[in-house]
Amino acid sequence: MAFTPSVGVIGCGSLGTAILQGLLSAKEPKVRPSKILASVTSEASAAKLREALPSVEVHKGENEVVAACDIVILACPPNLMSDVLGGLDKVLQGKLLISVLAGVSTESIKKVAGGAWVVRSLPNLAAAQQASATAVEDFDQDMPAEKVDLATAVIEQFGGVVLLPASIMDASTVVCGSTPAFIALFLDGLIDGAVAAGVPRNKANAMIAQVMGSTTALLGEQKASELRESVCAMPGCTIQGSIALEEGGVRGTAAKTMKMAIEAAKKLG
Ligand SMILES: NC(=O)c1ccc[n+]([C@@H]2O[C@H](COP(=O)([O-])OP(=O)(O)OC[C@H]3O[C@@H](n4cnc5c(N)ncnc54)[C@H](OP(=O)(O)O)[C@@H]3O)[C@@H](O)[C@H]2O)c1
Repeated sequence: MAFTPSVGVIGCGSLGTAILQGLLSAKEPKVRPSKILASVTSEASAAKLREALPSVEVHKGENEVVAACDIVILACPPNLMSDVLGGLDKVLQGKLLISVLAGVSTESIKKVAGGAWVVRSLPNLAAAQQASATAVEDFDQDMPAEKVDLATAVIEQFGGVVLLPASIMDASTVVCGSTPAFIALFLDGLIDGAVAAGVPRNKANAMIAQVMGSTTALLGEQKASELRESVCAMPGCTIQGSIALEEGGVRGTAAKTMKMAIEAAKKLG
């Protein structure tokens, strides 16, 4: 039987909208929200949200959203967490509060909303296609089993879940949240190279997108280093391309990208 909670999103911008799109368009949903409410601050964002998700009740403040919902998804800018949750502790009492804020620890959320059952998660924008890679912090050991089951069902409805200890959640923010942008930047370069060799841009884009799916399938079977070696097995074009990548310092640059982004993630909250 499906869960039928009322769901509220506080700060329903890009990620909040993607999560709701994923929740609402799942083919075999374990969670069928009885109703969905969302808050934004500006009229422009409210209009955009109403157009994207007509079934969602849009509000300009969080009080009504939190009061009406069993589950609250917190998706406002991370630096506003205390302002947004301040004063809501009573109404959040006993509710499930799923945070998607980058760089904000569970501990700091509990200081402001100690009465809620807090779940820290880091999804990405592919939530809209139920394809998020979501890092979820190990659940509070005292959290009732039904809350754990409900939170798990909600988060799994918009993608895959990896459970992790609190100590590596900032790193996972970048690994799960930022990596699509890093990969897209790299792919943009590959597409430019294909265009320079005469491939029409739209065809290059379509092929590279398909190849990403192929790479994902192969990575289910082997490590990244093994995949690279197996495709580079013969003397030919792939090894030549790989040498060019190594000359450009791609591996060190990729590692440094992660390292710097993780340092920045630690300062977000
Ligand atoms: N985008 C990602 O890929 C990603 C990945 C992982 C985690 N996150 C986290 O998800 C959160 C949202 O990111 P986003 O990319 O969706 O940002 P966004 O598009 O800017 O959305 C932020 C939302 O918060 C609302 N907001 C601003 N001030 C508010 C306030 N005082 N009270 C309530 N709502 C307020 C904004 O409404 P108005 O537009 O009306 O001001 C907007 O709807 C951030 O904490 C971020 O760290 C994002």
